[in-house]
Amino acid sequence: MVTVTYHGHACFHLSAGKHSLLFDPFLSGNPLAAARVEDFRSLTAILVSHGHADHLGDAVELSKRTKAPIIAPFELAAFCERRGAFVHPMHIGGSFGFEFGRVKLTIAHHGSAVVDKTTEYTGNPCGFLVHLGGLTFYHAGDTGLFYDMKLIGELDDIDVALLPIGDNFTMGPRDAAKAVEFLRPRYVVPMHFATFDVLEQDTSRFLLAMETLDAEPAVMAPGESREFS
Ligand code: NI
Ligand code: MN
Repeated sequence: MVTVTYHGHACFHLSAGKHSLLFDPFLSGNPLAAARVEDFRSLTAILVSHGHADHLGDAVELSKRTKAPIIAPFELAAFCERRGAFVHPMHIGGSFGFEFGRVKLTIAHHGSAVVDKTTEYTGNPCGFLVHLGGLTFYHAGDTGLFYDMKLIGELDDIDVALLPIGDNFTMGPRDAAKAVEFLRPRYVVPMHFATFDVLEQDTSRFLLAMETLDAEPAVMAPGESREFS
C-alpha cells in the first residue's frame, strides 16, 4: 500500500513503510501548494524531472535539510550538486535498484533549463517509473504526447499514472486521454493544471475524454491524500 499526497502542480509525496519520495517539489511560490519546505523533516529521495522552476522548486533546500538525494538526469543532478545537494544522477532508459525499489528514467518531450537572470541548460527532461510498496507509478514529468508511451505500458504494468493535462506547456486533456490509452494504468491522477492562467483550469474536459477508457481517474485536490493498493 502506498499513500499518495498531492501538493499541487506536479508535486507528489509517495510513502510506503519507512520510505517516502517527493516528486518535483515546487512549494515556495506555488499558489496551490498547501505544504511548505519545513513540513518535510525526512525524505528517502527527491525526484526532479527537469530544471524548470515549477519542478526543481525547493529540491536543493529539501535535500540539504533532509540529506535525501535528488534523483535526476545527470546534468540537472550536477547543477544541484554544485549547490550543495545530495544527488543520484541517472539518465533516460537507465534504471537503478534503490533500497525502496527500482527507478527508471523515461523520455519526456519538453525543455530542461534553469531560467532566471540567465538560462542554464540542464540536459534532457525525463519522466519516472517508480516501483514502491508493491506498486508501479509513472510520473510523466512535463511532456507532450509520444507514441513510445505504448512501449512504457507494455514493459511495465502501471498501477498509477501521474499525467499532465494542463495544455500550453504539456499535453492537454485530449492528448492526455490518448496517453492513458497507450499506458493502460489502473488509475490516473491528473496534474499540471490550474496553477497558472494559461493552463487548463479544471479536469472536466480530461474526464470527458477519459470516459470510454478502462483506467479509473483519481482526481486529487492539493493537500489531499489517497491510499493505493
Ligand atoms: Ni517544464
Ligand atoms: Mn511545468
